[in-house]
Amino acid sequence: MPVLQLDEFKTRQRATWEGGDYSACSPYIADVGELVVTRAGITPGMRVLDVACGTGNAAWPAARAGAHVTGLDLAAKLLEVGRARARAEGLEIEWREGDAEHLPFEDGSFDRVLSTFGHMFAPRHQRTAQEMARVCRRGGAIVTATWTPEGVFGDLSKAAAPYMPPPPDYASPPALWGREDHVRELFGDVATKFEFERHVNRIEWESLESFADFFMAHFPPMVTAKAMLGERFSEMRAGVVDVWKRANEVTDGSLRLPQEYLLSIVRL
Ligand SMILES: C[S@@+](CC[C@H](N)C(=O)[O-])C[C@H]1O[C@@H](n2cnc3c(N)ncnc32)[C@H](O)[C@@H]1O
Repeated sequence: MPVLQLDEFKTRQRATWEGGDYSACSPYIADVGELVVTRAGITPGMRVLDVACGTGNAAWPAARAGAHVTGLDLAAKLLEVGRARARAEGLEIEWREGDAEHLPFEDGSFDRVLSTFGHMFAPRHQRTAQEMARVCRRGGAIVTATWTPEGVFGDLSKAAAPYMPPPPDYASPPALWGREDHVRELFGDVATKFEFERHVNRIEWESLESFADFFMAHFPPMVTAKAMLGERFSEMRAGVVDVWKRANEVTDGSLRLPQEYLLSIVRL
């Protein structure tokens, strides 16, 4: 399989996240957006950017806290879902199509720059970190949540990797953002203080198999993998299910899946 050039890589990323139905999945990690907003200390009137916002898991609670919020994402389809929900709830959020590696904002435009599991998918981590720091004012903070490499996401990525196209050499593994030393290195030049917390999001489902059916039918990267792999998809699915089986906290036939993430607060 040919290695993708950067533009093509991002076109594929957009197509992937617009496929499947991410808006059916995002509510299961909404608690993380709430916590990020709390830890970011958002107060009324603050200017807040949610990078790679998807349907707006961090944008929502930030807007409810009274901030002026902009959500940015590659995937126009997800922004459309966010926009419609905001309209229905009477919340004002600006939804912008764009790339985390080229943020379309002036230097120092925001008091807080947030991301929950979105920034991690932009391939060039240093470039993304530089952009997040550039658009955040001095005295502000960048607050992110990333699945850790040693948590379920890390194991799932390892199980799926043999079935995926080789990552281009300019792309770093997304879960690296879930390591404190990596975050310290990315923001070493600009940060005045780092704070790190480990938390767990839990998925609860009536059974592991029915969760697997839901996830494979809706989660965009799985929907793309299914279309790409044909018959080999069931092999990959078995590997992923095995990861969940090992991580499951209960033995009564249901699923309680702990997903560890790193919450990073980078003060500028
Ligand atoms: C797992 S979703 C997270 C979405 C949201 N933050 C949440 O918590 O539900 C990953 C998101 O990253 C977006 N994304 C991936 N690469 C991106 C990039 N280079 N620039 C902006 N958004 C990107 C995808 O379109 C997708 O919406």
